[in-house]
Amino acid sequence: MSAAVDTPVVLAKDLRQVYPISRGLFRQADQLQAVGGVSFTVRPGQTLAVVGESGCGKSTLARMVALIEKPTAGELQLGGVDVVHATQSARLALRRDVQMVFQNPYGSLNPRKKIGAILEAPLEINTALTKPERAEQARAMLALVGLRPEHYERYPHMFSGGQRQRIAIARALMLKPKLIVADEPVSALDVSIQAQVLNLLADLQRELGLAYLFISHDLGVVRHIAHEVLVMYLGHAVEQGEKTALFARPLHPYTQALLACTPGIVGTGASKKRIMLSGELPSPLHPPSGCVFSTRCPQVTERCRVERPLLRELDGRQVACHEAK
Ligand SMILES: Nc1ncnc2c1ncn2[C@@H]1O[C@H](COP(=O)(O)OP(=O)(O)OP(=O)(O)O)[C@@H](O)[C@H]1O
Ligand SMILES: [Mg+2]
Repeated sequence: MSAAVDTPVVLAKDLRQVYPISRGLFRQADQLQAVGGVSFTVRPGQTLAVVGESGCGKSTLARMVALIEKPTAGELQLGGVDVVHATQSARLALRRDVQMVFQNPYGSLNPRKKIGAILEAPLEINTALTKPERAEQARAMLALVGLRPEHYERYPHMFSGGQRQRIAIARALMLKPKLIVADEPVSALDVSIQAQVLNLLADLQRELGLAYLFISHDLGVVRHIAHEVLVMYLGHAVEQGEKTALFARPLHPYTQALLACTPGIVGTGASKKRIMLSGELPSPLHPPSGCVFSTRCPQVTERCRVERPLLRELDGRQVACHEAK
């Protein structure tokens, strides 16, 4: 029996990120709450997918978990270590365990460097391996992500979008991280290529026991990769829980609406009801009082406009809705 097996790769409690927005030299800055208190855990070998419309705070959450930004408030542990209060050197050590993969692999790969050099750079900076040892690991990684040995000598522009994303994934894996934070990793790819990259991520997860925090606006993609799902709206979690149950019977009107407008999912299970999202997404600078979704919710009541629903247990999940049953 080992306690370490049960330690989540990520434990987040009430994570918040607030950005000051300048209104000019002599006026007090506005406060934009990009993430307004989100809690979750990610276990080894598991994928938590974060979904929601543009601007709901997905990338902000990703940057906090990937140690790129410090949270304004809340608790964040990686592998049981408190990263908010950790020393700078402890944070640097943790950085090796968390790697990011971005939406646009072309933008994140140095066009002047050969793939071999790109893959070896993290080893050069972080390990004492010799040049031949680094090259050997880079070549082994190319094979692991489904690329060929001769690709070692090529430049990023010689690859297709899907291959470039394989390279970005390979680079992220060079330091043997425990967690990959992937921010819309397949959104820029053709649908047929998306499936290949998602399959690769799933295979790597099984082989290496990796945990993923997987960011996507597309529930169709999320359905293929997630174990758990966290649905965000205007910086808040509105529903979260196990994927199969959430897709079979979405409890929050926002989850229902997102599912209804995802091609290929309409008509399955309880999402048959076609709920359309109407009205504009409110500005996060002026969020609605009460429930954040109240201005667009088809089931809104008077209570929803004044009282913000907290997440509560329902049907084995967490949902923040007064009306959900
Ligand atoms: N550095 C920043 N300074 C000020 N505001 C920011 C900053 N980063 C993000 N925001 C704001 O925070 C909110 C959440 O942004 P974020 O990028 O996390 O959303 P997102 O869900 O990733 O959206 P998308 O799907 O478009 O990528 C938005 O209103 C955005 O304008
Ligand atoms: Mg984003």
